[in-house]
Amino acid sequence: MNNESAAEDIVKRRAIFYRSFGIYAEVGGFYDYGPIGLRIKRKIEEAWRKLFPEGMGLLEVETSIVLPEVVLKASGHLATFTDPVGVCGSCHTSYRLDKLLEEYYEANGDGEGLGGVKKLKLNDLAARISSVGIKCSKCGGSIGNPENFNLMFKTQIGQKGTEIAYLRPETAQGIFVDFKDIYRAYGLKLPCGISQVGKVFRNEISPRQQLVRVREFTQMETEIFIDKEAGFGSFGGVDFKKIEAERISFARRGEEEGSEYTIRSLLDDGSIPNEYFAILLYKEKELVDLLGIGKERYRFRQLEKEELPHYSMGNIDLEVKTSYGYIEVAGNAHRSDYDLSSHAKLSGEDLSVLSNEKKVLPHVIEASIGVDRLLFSVIDGAVRDDGRGWKLLALNSSVAPYEYAVFPLQKDDGLIKKAKEIHEGLGARRICSFYAEAGSIGKRYARADEIGIPNAITVDFDTLKDGTVTIRDRDSSKQVRKSIDELLRAT
Ligand code: GAP
Repeated sequence: MNNESAAEDIVKRRAIFYRSFGIYAEVGGFYDYGPIGLRIKRKIEEAWRKLFPEGMGLLEVETSIVLPEVVLKASGHLATFTDPVGVCGSCHTSYRLDKLLEEYYEANGDGEGLGGVKKLKLNDLAARISSVGIKCSKCGGSIGNPENFNLMFKTQIGQKGTEIAYLRPETAQGIFVDFKDIYRAYGLKLPCGISQVGKVFRNEISPRQQLVRVREFTQMETEIFIDKEAGFGSFGGVDFKKIEAERISFARRGEEEGSEYTIRSLLDDGSIPNEYFAILLYKEKELVDLLGIGKERYRFRQLEKEELPHYSMGNIDLEVKTSYGYIEVAGNAHRSDYDLSSHAKLSGEDLSVLSNEKKVLPHVIEASIGVDRLLFSVIDGAVRDDGRGWKLLALNSSVAPYEYAVFPLQKDDGLIKKAKEIHEGLGARRICSFYAEAGSIGKRYARADEIGIPNAITVDFDTLKDGTVTIRDRDSSKQVRKSIDELLRAT
């Protein structure tokens, strides 16, 4: 496996994102976003908001990050949100057993072995690791003591700390717990949807591959609540005729690779469980298309039974091909009434609602998208090296941190004044631009290319005479001359 991502160099040098607490001893799995990374992240969240909650007319909430133990007992996370772990008998390094075995099979090109890992239970994983001879990569010791390790971060509430709580491992639980109040307060009817974007926490055993497996990350989740007995009419303002004719790359259970199918054919053969699920997949396709992840880089994959999360009766995940191979970017699940019925049982509250004059405990279809993996996938696929002496990030305007860079050609009071006027003029039109005057113009172009800014505006001495500037296109590095008025009018 390639251990370097295509964008690693740019990401480091331009501090797009970087390890947290870097000046102290290394603690893996936590990343900070620098100014450029943060702008890209916000753009991804904005694109999602426009397509999901706002685009489908759903509601968005923000719920607590700290959850009392009872919530996670009901949700099943306390008992089952675990990964299989083994520990080196000599140096006590911990390993996630399924990932360790997968890496071994990948390195040995053993597709059959690799495909079988998902089906192995804890003790079988440990036995296989021992039989194929995998040892601790740090000291060569034997890996043993297998256990199912719970991934949640535990904490305590209050001064005495008697009440146990956990940092939420998904945003969804807040939505389920609040569902009935929101339903009532907003006069909702089934089907309806509630979204949330926010931080979640998982104490991953072996965080790795930059943002791909971290311990603190952001999810954008949408839960659609349905009456499973009612037929499908319409939902989310979408034209379902158009959606069902859409072709997507899809790997059915047991298939290694994705093939092209219409959404209609996947509904007909039961691979996609219902129309609501189909709408969420289509929306995800719209999102990745908008963010510039090419069609050839992503697929939907129906998970094997053994891979399903404890709450799911069927998952179809969105996977994107990156320098680290395919990674799961979104987990889409048919959660049935699993969550609402468990919360109803443990809280004693009736969480059913009235639908067509009868009481219904809604079933839930979920789209859970990881912002950080999506951001990583976007950047990883955008690196181009076309012999300029530096690499560029060919980001779509939808995710570029700025649409324009504004540069005075050199350090000259007149040029600087004019360049700042343009920078501020763009700002007044709510277009945030990137201004820089330090360094040669070549170095500034390089920097703008590396952080993915599509257009660089340069103010030179002709600008002062005739009010025109050069606009340099990032991808072709071609320059055209335009009047400032024309430029600002077009924005
Ligand atoms: N509520 C459903 C849920 O949480 P999930 O498949 O466990 O489903 C959803 O997570 C998404 O969250 C994943 O598709 C991925 O994008 C992101 N994610 C999960 N674990 C992650 C990790 N350790 N680091 C970065 N992103 C992660």
